[in-house]
Amino acid sequence: MVFNSGDSAMSKRIIAAAVTAFALTVSSGALLTSLQAQDSAVQKPTFSADGSVSIPANWRSWVFIGTPLTPNALNDGAAPFPEFHNVYIEPGAFAHFQKTGEFANGTQIAKELVLVRAKDADDMHADGSTNEVSGRGYFQGEFQGLELAYKDTERFAAEPGGWVYYSFGHKAPPYEKTAKAFPTESCNACHEASADTDFVFTQFYPVLRSEMKKSEMKK
Ligand code: HEC
Repeated sequence: MVFNSGDSAMSKRIIAAAVTAFALTVSSGALLTSLQAQDSAVQKPTFSADGSVSIPANWRSWVFIGTPLTPNALNDGAAPFPEFHNVYIEPGAFAHFQKTGEFANGTQIAKELVLVRAKDADDMHADGSTNEVSGRGYFQGEFQGLELAYKDTERFAAEPGGWVYYSFGHKAPPYEKTAKAFPTESCNACHEASADTDFVFTQFYPVLRSEMKKSEMKK
């Protein structure tokens, strides 16, 4: 732009406006970057003074990773957990897993139990399966419990892998609002012995296995 001397007041105003607009662009860019960083940050749970953990606020909006099923009919009529196990990972922890193939410190994984959908005895097979329009099988009924696995190698330095395990009740909602960690031998030990990836049963979670393949390919 070329200004003659008579326009100098005007030109100063134009320059000032341009500088302000530039500053706004830069600062909104910085704000966006910090929001994005926040979005992908791993969210840890909250703890009370007595050390119990609070139930996650919205685990059903976390990233769904898989649904193992161990029905009674295949477990001598009495499976310890006859329900579907719907498993979800906290989104920030999922983003980290996508990038690295590893569970970040602070990872939370929720497992919600869902009863096999029941019908009148006349409409159910002896193994608990039912016929629906898509075929004969097991379909999800009502919610029946919530568990949480949490990794924190600082807070739980004494637990193998830093993993602790909680239950908010093996029953219909409403679930308990808080839970105390189980002793190591009740939960952690079996996960350590039999889970494929860092105490987590990725062998049953296709969503995580597909991310592991992608992050392997990047290496
Ligand atoms: C005998 C072995 C065993 C014991 C003991 C055990 N689990 Fe698990 N857990 C599993 C298996 C197998 C899966 C995945 C498949 C499934 O849900 O059936 C699993 C999955 C989970 C998950 C989903 C995340 C993950 O790590 O895969 C949570 C949460 C969980 N268990 C909580 C608990 C709690 C709480 C206890 C203790 C009260 C416990 N588990 C004890 C075998 C065990």
